[in-house]
Amino acid sequence: MNILEQLEKIAVIPVIAIEDASDAVPLASALTKGGLACAEITFRTKAGRDAIKNIADNYKDCLVGAGTILTVDQARDAHDAGAKFIVSPGLNLDVLKWCNENNILHIPGCVTPTEMTLAFNNGAKIVKIFPAESIGGLKYIKSVASVFPLKFMPTGGISESNLEEYLTYEKVCACGGTWLAKKDMIANKEWDKIEDNCKRAVNIINKCRKV
Ligand code: 3PG
Repeated sequence: MNILEQLEKIAVIPVIAIEDASDAVPLASALTKGGLACAEITFRTKAGRDAIKNIADNYKDCLVGAGTILTVDQARDAHDAGAKFIVSPGLNLDVLKWCNENNILHIPGCVTPTEMTLAFNNGAKIVKIFPAESIGGLKYIKSVASVFPLKFMPTGGISESNLEEYLTYEKVCACGGTWLAKKDMIANKEWDKIEDNCKRAVNIINKCRKV
């Protein structure tokens, strides 16, 4: 199974901002025990890169990727640390081209049809719709997505309360979100709470997808 297929199977991608890289392995364990064996570790914190490396080296059951990647240098750094996929909040064609040249799945952020066209014409297979809820939610996504041969990963404003509606739309490959493991939950080492959040998300996934 390639990385895109793995993400589609997992269906919900925990988006992580982590301050202490030594929390990365217990976090990956909590996510995996909760049924979401995946983490998009953002480069928003200084610990992001080392957190990716800790998971990639020590917790191989968890598919680890990098988020908030704005530059080619960051993409290279994340990949060197072990990131299996690269997510960006917006569309940077240099990052997209670099990832394609290096055979790494890139998920650029897109909002407009023009951005989606550019992403598609430069080899994207999937785009992150960010910030999904603020730009009109599923209603907006449905009105643009039907014309593009792309998969979509809505992120931004997604939680247990609206996850089901997003996942039932067939062009949604997966949803991303921070609600599963918020920064303070990680800092307070609330691993059981994170595991329970994942389990509740998995129940929603199972309701709307055949597994
Ligand atoms: C992201 O980094 O992808 C978004 O900030 C996540 O948005 P959320 O906090 O609303 O889930």
